[in-house]
Amino acid sequence: MGKFIVRGGHPLNGSVKIQGSKNAVLPILAASLLNKGTCKLNNCPNLRDVNVAIEILNIIGAETSFTDHTIRITCKEIKETVVPNHLAAEMRSSIIFLGPMLARCKEISISYPGGCEIGPRPIDLHIKALKKMGAEIFFANEGILRCRANELIGCEMNLDYPSVGATENIMLAAVYAKGRTIINNPAKEPEIISLQNFLKAMGVSVYGAGSGRIVIEGREEIACDMEFDIIPDRIEAGTMMAAAAITGGELYLQNIIPGHIRPIILKMTEAGCHIQEEEDSLKVTAPKRLKAVDITRTSPYPGFPTDMQPQTVAMLSLAQGTSIMIETVFDNRFGYTEELKKMGADIFVEGRAAIIRGVPELYGSYVKSKDLRGGAALILAGLAAKGETIVDGAVHIERGYDKIEDKLRNVGADIIKID
Ligand code: EPZ
Repeated sequence: MGKFIVRGGHPLNGSVKIQGSKNAVLPILAASLLNKGTCKLNNCPNLRDVNVAIEILNIIGAETSFTDHTIRITCKEIKETVVPNHLAAEMRSSIIFLGPMLARCKEISISYPGGCEIGPRPIDLHIKALKKMGAEIFFANEGILRCRANELIGCEMNLDYPSVGATENIMLAAVYAKGRTIINNPAKEPEIISLQNFLKAMGVSVYGAGSGRIVIEGREEIACDMEFDIIPDRIEAGTMMAAAAITGGELYLQNIIPGHIRPIILKMTEAGCHIQEEEDSLKVTAPKRLKAVDITRTSPYPGFPTDMQPQTVAMLSLAQGTSIMIETVFDNRFGYTEELKKMGADIFVEGRAAIIRGVPELYGSYVKSKDLRGGAALILAGLAAKGETIVDGAVHIERGYDKIEDKLRNVGADIIKID
């Protein structure tokens, strides 16, 4: 599983280059199946989830290479339509292969994605939409989802909830559907706009991403060599801002899009940080002690991102005063707070709300990471805690952060990773 060993008390100081976005590159890797030509993706993060997605592409029949943050994918023909269970189980977001496989070869079998530490991860919105487009989706034995479609027909649909994954699956299925597909109430995340830009670069007529209505015109097969730059990871940027905030340090973040992290910038400012923004970078300077933030409610973009909830709670556990965090996106995303309490945090969780009473100090301890962002929160707490913190379950954190220990060590953290 691997462990991070952190010795706290060092205010971070220096410059960090933000990685390419995990949640942008994963749907784009799936979307590359729509192209018989070569997709060249630049600024890709080297993450476990990215390597699992590449493994799935290889099994399906794509030729891939991944060198120095550039991934090349060429899928001339589909050779396999069954995604091995162990890969689908390892990466919940493998469900994103439904749309492009139904579009390209009209069938796919994949194990139903399990829930994870942040709550059940239903796919009812994906299934309802794809069925409306003409897909037949049924559960075979042992939780295998069998999907096929004689033909996908474009149609207008309403998402009951602006699900990121469901929006992505519909967009990808629609590329080879007959006629026009309209998605009302889609997700508006920057990763949706990035997927739209990738599809446009492939020659797809698609517009409206980021608004309340996305329109995709179905078309004939695509075979073109193209190149695309993956956008910066807004959640890694937020995590590094929280690292500066919790250690009373000052960090200069390069390769960011300030507009994608507006709610995070405002939250950090509310907590007493000073932020100086440039076009593709920013400097965050923390106060000696953070101020409590009254109420934070996570919500779909452009609201405060659920993926920054654990890191923010960790940071506020040392603030002056009491903060409240309300998690409206996932059912069970406060599991990590039990680990923070082992370090001396004073947090009370009731349902979707957490009350964080700021304490003057946290103490190093042995803690276990069970999910990606909760694990990041534990590292942040370790950076500020007195003494040594061992964060077990590094494997969860490596799903979303490319060499986080090197990045933090380069700006003054005392952190190592052991296998
Ligand atoms: C994406 O997950 C991200 N993952 C998540 O990031 C992120 O937290 C989430 O969007 C919300 O922003 C990737 O992009 C790979 P959803 P996704 O479908 O697509 C419910 C991280 O840490 N729902 O928008 O799975 C669902 O249960 C990860 O990087 C249904 O009810 O998120 C949840 O409560 C964690 N039925 C809510 O919607 C469905 O069919 C949001 O889910 C689908 C979703």
